[in-house]
Amino acid sequence: MKHFDSMVRLSSADVSEILKLAADIKSRVRQGDRPRLLGGRVMTLVFEKPSLRTRVSFEAAVAQLGGSSLFLTNADAGLSGRESVADVARVLGTYSDWIVLRTFSHKLVDQFVQHAGCPVINGLSDQGHPCQALSDLLTLQETLGALAGKTLAFVGDGNNVARSLAVACALTGMKFTLAAPAGYQLAADFLEIIKQKVPTAELSQTTDPRAAVAGADAVYTDVWASMGQEAEQDKRKQVFAPYQVNAALMARAPKHARFMHCLPARRNMEVTDEVLDGPSSIAIAQAENRMHAARGILLWLLDVKSP
Ligand code: CP
Ligand code: NVA
Repeated sequence: MKHFDSMVRLSSADVSEILKLAADIKSRVRQGDRPRLLGGRVMTLVFEKPSLRTRVSFEAAVAQLGGSSLFLTNADAGLSGRESVADVARVLGTYSDWIVLRTFSHKLVDQFVQHAGCPVINGLSDQGHPCQALSDLLTLQETLGALAGKTLAFVGDGNNVARSLAVACALTGMKFTLAAPAGYQLAADFLEIIKQKVPTAELSQTTDPRAAVAGADAVYTDVWASMGQEAEQDKRKQVFAPYQVNAALMARAPKHARFMHCLPARRNMEVTDEVLDGPSSIAIAQAENRMHAARGILLWLLDVKSP
């Protein structure tokens, strides 16, 4: 059974196939065509954390193609101790064509993969945000053309979003550079996993944001304190201050470089209003593409070859 739980599980061919499905269905939907490809299908979402884009993009994606969705908090689902995770997963799997999870610990995603008996989608865990990364590839492809050989510079925390993007870049022949303070970079064992999977992967890390953005086709950032790290907010604000993406930093990147953010943004912290709202920003296109990419993922998981 296929799952979309981690970018590491995917091959380059899988990524190409999902991107093609997403682009094809995007163009049909944009022309006003909403084929009932998912008629009678049910998607269940179980979220431990808030979400705007992930929740609504998946619910809209399935509804527009004739399917339906159910949204549960972890408390609604009984994941706060009412019954075992394995039993919740087994039962939900009998009702659902896909289960989308948003979790604190990636262990919960692994448990659902083990027990649900239906495709499981990671809608963000502490380990990764593969739906965001896949969607960002779609946006990059639309903006820059062929992905191979392009460079993505991620400036900020080596978090869930950065991890999935690093793998996404490796799988598509893109170069990935992370500029982060010591202690907030990607772990050596994680980089080793990517290298084992894609020996030609070009991944680098630096503490110097200006060096990272020189030569970048896209400059990406995300919040300095992710959901669940609120207690570290003050400390992180100090540590990451030199990593703010502002006009001075963007001026170090090539003129054509685009600014990217998965949103939600803490405005004038990790990115200034000037950059986020400026002409190089493609953050809103990224958010829209979450829905188109979601359809690619849903169709791929059902083994639909062409919309
Ligand atoms: N980018 C993203 O996943 O947004 P939400 O947290 O609103 O889902
Ligand atoms: N790194 C952020 C991403 C939110 C979409 C978080 O985990 O909160």
